[in-house]
Amino acid sequence: MDQNTKKIQVASAALEYIENGQIIGIGSGSTVNCLIEQLDKVKSKIDAVVSSSEATTKLVKSKNIRVIDLKESGRIPLYIDGADESNQHKQLIKGGGGALTREKIVAHASDKFVCMIDDSKLVDTLGSFPLPIEVIGMSQSLVSLEMIKLGGRPVLRENYLTDNNNIIVDTHNLQIQQPIKLEQEINNIPGVVTTGLFAMRGADILLVSNGSNIDEL
Ligand code: A5P
Repeated sequence: MDQNTKKIQVASAALEYIENGQIIGIGSGSTVNCLIEQLDKVKSKIDAVVSSSEATTKLVKSKNIRVIDLKESGRIPLYIDGADESNQHKQLIKGGGGALTREKIVAHASDKFVCMIDDSKLVDTLGSFPLPIEVIGMSQSLVSLEMIKLGGRPVLRENYLTDNNNIIVDTHNLQIQQPIKLEQEINNIPGVVTTGLFAMRGADILLVSNGSNIDEL
C-alpha cells in the first residue's frame, strides 16, 4: 500500500478522537492535510481550531471552520498532528515541514496529543531523520558548532524561513539514546528557538498505519 493511502487511513482513525463542541489543535504536514481533507465528516462537532502554521490555517479556513488564537482558546482538550519519527515511548522528531515551534507550543497547551504516523516512521532509536532546529539567524554558526559537539552534522535548510522568520538547521547523524536530556541540552544553546525533538512532551496516543490496520500505542 502506498504511503498516501496509509496517511488517509491514519487520519481517518484520528477523527474518532474529536468530541462534541471541542476546540482542537491541528498540526502541519501532509498527514495533517489528509486529516483536514476529511474534517467535513466531523465539522459539526468542532467549535474552533487552533492552528500550528499558516498553511494549516489556510486549509482549515477553506473548510469554513473557525480558526482562533491560542490566547483566545486557553488550554486545548485535543491536539492532532503527524511526526517524522517516533520511538516506542511516543517521543518524536518533528519539523520536517518547518512548523516545529508553533507545533510545540500548541502541543504543550493541549491535554491530549494524538499523533498519526505510518509504520515506516516507528523506530527503535530516534535520529535517522535529521533533527530540525529552529534558530535565530545570527546564532547559526554557534548552534552548528554545539551540534557538532553533540555528535551531529548540522546542515542549514537552504532558501527556507519559518513562519516566525527564523532559519532551520537540520542535524544529521544523531543516535538519540536520551531524548529528554538532548532536548534540554539543545534548548540551552543561545539562539535556539525550538528543537524538533518532542520528548519532554511527546504524544499521548500514537496511531500507526501499517497498510491493513491501525495500531494504537
Ligand atoms: C511539520 O513541521 C512537521 O512537524 C510534520 O508534522 C511532520 O514533519 C510530519 O509531516 P508529514 O505528515 O508530511 O510526514
